[in-house]
Amino acid sequence: MTRHYLFLLGSSRPDGNTELLARRAAEQLPTDVEQRWIDLAEHPLPDFEDLRHDSDHVRPTEGSAGLLLDATLAATDIVIASPLYWYSLSAPVKRYLDYWSGWLRTPGLDFKATLAGRTLWGVTALAHQEQEVADPLIGSLSNSAAYMGMRFGGVLLGNGSKPGDVLKDTEALAGAKTFFAQEAPLARFPYEQTDTVPSDVMPVPTR
Ligand SMILES: Cc1cc2nc3c(=O)[nH]c(=O)nc-3n(C[C@H](O)[C@H](O)[C@H](O)COP(=O)(O)O)c2cc1C
Repeated sequence: MTRHYLFLLGSSRPDGNTELLARRAAEQLPTDVEQRWIDLAEHPLPDFEDLRHDSDHVRPTEGSAGLLLDATLAATDIVIASPLYWYSLSAPVKRYLDYWSGWLRTPGLDFKATLAGRTLWGVTALAHQEQEVADPLIGSLSNSAAYMGMRFGGVLLGNGSKPGDVLKDTEALAGAKTFFAQEAPLARFPYEQTDTVPSDVMPVPTR
């Protein structure tokens, strides 16, 4: 099956470290893998409105929401390229993920069933030297993948403050060489044991 990688760029500036690192990793993908790159800054989503318990969601067909929904449904692999902002995901990426909650309730989409088994990856750049400060970002992506019954390929981390700094992070560049070649196991919540049933059949609370 042909893989379709969707790269979602979540920085608030162009040509930043996160994108540079993501592009280094993407260079290693086989040529038969399709790549689509979308900069969330060029396709801004309106504030997310939580209508889950009020009315039926309607499938968005136009605008940024329509474009991002179609791109998401078409992707076998979703790569969240978000800089570390306040120890977590950038606001454009967070908002995109909030839209998933609406798409989960949109009749006819089967959003969860469609994404189940597909793979979520992360790429981030941070100014802090100690990488564990990015744990909230990693946990956010990993738990989201577990909730959706997706695979999780992990997060490629690079260090840098001003654009281009990440190109001096030799460890990150080495990691980029093999990042997408890594196995991406089915994501699990931290409380799940590896020998328990997969999260897509676990009784995850409805929300
Ligand atoms: C709003 C904002 C919040 C940030 N928060 C953090 C942070 O919590 N930890 C950190 O190490 N760096 C933080 N930084 C620094 C960025 O992560 C760093 O500059 C990174 O290289 C930006 O990625 P980019 O070049 O792809 O935009 C922050 C930068 C901005 C603009």
